[in-house]
Amino acid sequence: MSTQPFIVGNWKMNGTRAMLSEARAIDRGAARYPAVRVGIAPPFTLVTAMAEALQAAQVGAQDCHAEASGAYTGDVSAAMLADAGAQFVIAGHSERRAMHGESDAVVKAKAEAALAAGLEVIVCVGETEAERDAGKAEKVVTGQLAGSLPQGEDAAARVTVAYEPVWAIGTGRVPSIEDVSAMHCAIRAKLDAIYGEGGAAVRILYGGSVNAKNAAELLAVDEVGGALVGGASLTAENFLAIVMAASGPSTE
Ligand code: 13P
Repeated sequence: MSTQPFIVGNWKMNGTRAMLSEARAIDRGAARYPAVRVGIAPPFTLVTAMAEALQAAQVGAQDCHAEASGAYTGDVSAAMLADAGAQFVIAGHSERRAMHGESDAVVKAKAEAALAAGLEVIVCVGETEAERDAGKAEKVVTGQLAGSLPQGEDAAARVTVAYEPVWAIGTGRVPSIEDVSAMHCAIRAKLDAIYGEGGAAVRILYGGSVNAKNAAELLAVDEVGGALVGGASLTAENFLAIVMAASGPSTE
């Protein structure tokens, strides 16, 4: 398993060019923690400018279309994102699954398009609160993995999974450490089943109300290989505290 933690900021629908100074501050901070891989996924409108501005941190996008080009008004393809300087794209975020009706099959097609365009892909999975209360969390998440993960030669080498319990996103609530650990182990087992030996190389990020206070504890959990951060990624101060936590014990 890769040991370099991956800390990704998902800016969601936040950020105009005025926020590039914040991204630059994140980038300067990221340069101080070379043991941590840092990424930011801004809105489409900032991908090019951010890709040009950042050096230590990588730039990604939050979604892509499954086709490379065509009559899809308002959509953006993975090839366009690669051309704009993106290195990765998020696929299947729960907000897209819920608000745009994205099925596992759609997410898989997008993930495969991302890989075909030379990008890496972060595939998101996670249960709702009702599903967890019904004792179905692991079944839901492993089912999403089976349906959403890209197939094909070399796929496992460029895939990251993000486990984001829907009920933990933007709520300030996080699962217990035991629940995070159990789910990440279940995801690892499913990755091994889907990808065989290659599954061991896939990083599994935790996402959902990660902040400067809880990051160290979450990142210390076995099989947690990083974090996908929403609200706390919007300022350098908050985000870099998480990057610092990922870099391990420090005297700073
Ligand atoms: P919050 O960190 O704001 O809970 O968002 C998590 C998320 O959805 C990241 O993709």
